[in-house]
Amino acid sequence: SPVDDGLRTGYHFQPPKHWINGKNLMRVPTYPNGVMYYKGVYHLFYQYNPQGAVWGNIVWAHAVSTDLVDWVMLPPAIYPTAPFDVNGCWSGSATVLPDGTPVIMYTGIDGQNRQVQNVAYPKDLSDPYLREWVKPDYNPVIAPGPGTNATAFRDPTTAWQGPDGLWRLVIGTKDNHRGLAMLYRSRDFKQWAPANRALHSGDTGMWECPDFYPVTTSPAAAGGGGGTKHVLKVSLDLTRFEYYTFGEYDHATDTYVPDAALADGNDGLRYDYGNFYASKTFLDTAKRRRVLWGWANESDSAAADIRKGWAGVQAVPRKVWLSSDGKQLVQWPVAEIESLRGGHVNVTGRIVGAGQHFEVAGLASAAQADVEASFQVADLGKAEPFDPAWRGADAQAVCAARGADARGGVGPFGLWVLASDDRDERTAVFFRVFKDGGKHVVLMCNDPSMSSHADDLYKPTFAAFVDVDIAQAGGKIALRTLIDHSVVESFGAHGKTCILSRVYPTKAVGDKARLFVFNNGESNIKVTHLNAYEMRSAKITSDTTEPTSR
Ligand code: FRU
Repeated sequence: SPVDDGLRTGYHFQPPKHWINGKNLMRVPTYPNGVMYYKGVYHLFYQYNPQGAVWGNIVWAHAVSTDLVDWVMLPPAIYPTAPFDVNGCWSGSATVLPDGTPVIMYTGIDGQNRQVQNVAYPKDLSDPYLREWVKPDYNPVIAPGPGTNATAFRDPTTAWQGPDGLWRLVIGTKDNHRGLAMLYRSRDFKQWAPANRALHSGDTGMWECPDFYPVTTSPAAAGGGGGTKHVLKVSLDLTRFEYYTFGEYDHATDTYVPDAALADGNDGLRYDYGNFYASKTFLDTAKRRRVLWGWANESDSAAADIRKGWAGVQAVPRKVWLSSDGKQLVQWPVAEIESLRGGHVNVTGRIVGAGQHFEVAGLASAAQADVEASFQVADLGKAEPFDPAWRGADAQAVCAARGADARGGVGPFGLWVLASDDRDERTAVFFRVFKDGGKHVVLMCNDPSMSSHADDLYKPTFAAFVDVDIAQAGGKIALRTLIDHSVVESFGAHGKTCILSRVYPTKAVGDKARLFVFNNGESNIKVTHLNAYEMRSAKITSDTTEPTSR
């Protein structure tokens, strides 16, 4: 029977376990699809392999929530029924039309294994959960054209309307090694025509799961087309990470020009520098914000995956907006998750000397917690020189060379989370500050190399540079870390740098897990404030009652 090893998440969304005859059937990654807000209800659809499905017959599972915290699981909303999706219902998006009707566009795998785009409409708009979806007979609405690779033509975005009243959307594809965001237009959401050039492309391989939306420097999202910048995000099939650019989008000519400083591909900006893929945003018209959903894979061995009975979790929904300096996006967990906060521990003005650490004790369980900390470096003059060889190199390489246990000048300092009593299991989330000429370089890392005694685990170190002027900030830097059994999801510098990591401790489980602050640098670090909250579990219930409409 399935083993519950105490690592299942409490408030990061994941579907119920899925077992038949001792076999885990849910091995399809649960990528978020069609996320939307409609009349008081948030909808999350996701890729799923349901009970009884033939392998590969992917459906859209469905869950609804009124607060993005507690979820009601519903029967699958979209599943193979017709020639245009007989081999699977792959990723896609929802668009709420001006008359208030939501429409889903998704990729169907047709009888010839071509990727085609289909629409589906709610069967009964008076059902608040929109359980049933109808696929018109005129599907597919977009089929791959003559020059298009029919096995790499998928994941339509949410559509938007231009000044000419036409709808637009983008589909991910590739042309040899070139990833493309193909633009399509339609007057009626039924007949779609390709634009004669792609919205954007990059020399990166296939672009999966594109997303395109307006942002401003205010967390209050711009509706429709009113942003100061447009963001284009893509997921790279080849490397399994995502990057984004943003820039000017001219609605009249459908031209998108990313800001000059931004790179496409491996050197591009990322929502998350850890385990995060196939993400999707939606405009939350009720709370006037843009919300980002992303999926985090298991980094366990395949055998353990099967034993556990789940395949990936959703990151917490994050608000996303443009930083005030216009140089990057910023993300922050939606405020609703704070409703799960319970008992809490507070630390103020505590100095951590070189090589010291202390336990943040008093939480009933530090395995399910929300930690907000603010650190202040006493002496930035102790920062080590930044090796010129690292310039332009990726942060991950620097962090691999200078991990949590490599003594430094300023840092490594930060948190040991999911730590065992003897601390021989622990995951370090930390900062390290270097001096590069007259400037400081701040590195944020997630080092799981000590996270588990289990062998056979994939334990990559994740890292990114944090775009802050720490000297000007008086040596201060903030860190928030959401701990959820096997999830460590961190937000550095108020959401400028995010890193989600999956770890699988064997001892630091449940009420055995502990939380510490550590400093392996020469400079003292002051914990100016630290609040650690226990987190209650989200309520995930199931509603499989048949809809009343027939
Ligand atoms: C990654 C992806 C999508 C596709 C889906 C199939 O998200 O490969 O491109 O639509 O998964 O499950």
